Amino acid sequence: MRHDADRFSCAVLTMSDKGSRGERIDESGPMLQEILRDEGYLVRAFGMVPDQIEAITQTLIQWVDQDKIDLILTTGGTGVSPTDVTPEAMRGVIEKEIPGMAEAMRAASLLKTPHAVLSRAMVGIRGRSLIINLPGSQKAARENIEVLLPALPHALDKIQGGTSDCADSGVLAK
Ligand code: MTE
Repeated sequence: MRHDADRFSCAVLTMSDKGSRGERIDESGPMLQEILRDEGYLVRAFGMVPDQIEAITQTLIQWVDQDKIDLILTTGGTGVSPTDVTPEAMRGVIEKEIPGMAEAMRAASLLKTPHAVLSRAMVGIRGRSLIINLPGSQKAARENIEVLLPALPHALDKIQGGTSDCADSGVLAK
């Protein structure tokens, strides 16, 4: 278990037109929930919405503003096909962007596939919650979130106003 992870609540949102019509089984959402639980986080919500800006925006805002979820992972809709609108929805939700987190995921992914450049995933903060976009396939979602897992407890602590010393919060604190 990751140090301090059990302080934080999480949710996973899958964007999928086919999934939300019951035409495709969502494998990435359940996998991400399992990864979060293995890390020691409390998974409080899970949802699936079609690739529509309004549906995505509404769910994210509700999970942050009403349900006070600390960490939200989204999967899908980050690419370049006409239906992919996750980043467009994010722009209406987040108050601060954390470009380094998205850049790190793309940089690490590029070592695995040249298609990594097609992900327009964003990471940002609304209120005291962190929202992370991941690509839709199970493989891509796993490869991307694994890049960020070591930094998440410290990031969440800082987002919530924690005053822990950054120098004491390296990956070796696992
Ligand atoms: N990143 C990793 N690590 N591994 C992958 O297989 N697939 C890419 C990219 N990022 C991939 C990846 C592909 S093929 C696409 S189209 C984009 O993520 C966007 O995926 P999405 O539209 O499902 O969100």
